[in-house]
Amino acid sequence: MDGIEIARQRLRSSRSPVALTGAGVSAESGVPTFRGVEGLWKTLKPEDLATPEAFDRDPALVWEWYGWRRSIIASIRPNAAHYALVELEKRNPAFALITQNVDGLHSLAGSRNVIELHGSIWRTKCLGCGGSSEDRNAPIRIIPRCALCGGVLMPDVVWFGEALPEGLLDRAFEASEGADVMIAAGTSGVVQPTASLPSIAKKAGAYLIEVNPEPTPLSGIMDARLAGKAGELLPGLL
Ligand code: APR
Repeated sequence: MDGIEIARQRLRSSRSPVALTGAGVSAESGVPTFRGVEGLWKTLKPEDLATPEAFDRDPALVWEWYGWRRSIIASIRPNAAHYALVELEKRNPAFALITQNVDGLHSLAGSRNVIELHGSIWRTKCLGCGGSSEDRNAPIRIIPRCALCGGVLMPDVVWFGEALPEGLLDRAFEASEGADVMIAAGTSGVVQPTASLPSIAKKAGAYLIEVNPEPTPLSGIMDARLAGKAGELLPGLL
């Protein structure tokens, strides 16, 4: 498997680089990851907090959890990994950033072409009128209500068992098929269909670089595996 110098050269000569990021990219900012030793899913159950059924059963519990996460994210800053990807976009306007993160830190850092596949913790959608709107309250009122129709608001994120928004998924497939280099950083690579994007890119001829302290199910198809933290490795890679 190639090392960082070859990966760096491939990225330097790339015309259409794409990054796929996951919770690990925000870990150094202080956002808890979902899996791994200290991952949220070690002590909490997704079926209690991150499914449509959980929300139907106990919207207050789900909102308490999202309120807690909002409060953490509201007080933190992007890290060197986010800023490195902003730099990559500046160098290469064709760059696309596909993220599973709902924290908004890529945009806060300055990335523009961000495909937020799993939605945003800073948006709500109304069960009554279906409207989606930005809401940056942290803490947030439990349970928040729609200003237009009074309906119950839910976090505008994608939960387990839900389909990804079609338009966004199409954009992610398109970017992956058009990539000549794809960096997969800070993702455990187990949540579908996002986890299949690197193999789609590979089939279309992309050079794959993984940045993660731990091996993942994606490691086997990578051309370069950089074992370490995204905030430490990504700036050097660029
Ligand atoms: N730098 C790079 N990678 C890191 C770092 C770091 N500093 N710290 C941890 N990681 C890696 C872990 O080794 C792990 O492989 O980040 C990965 C985080 O994995 P997950 O928590 O599973 O995050 P992600 O892949 O984004 O999860 C996908 O699962 O629960 C859902 O909706 C949630 O979007 C999330 C989805």
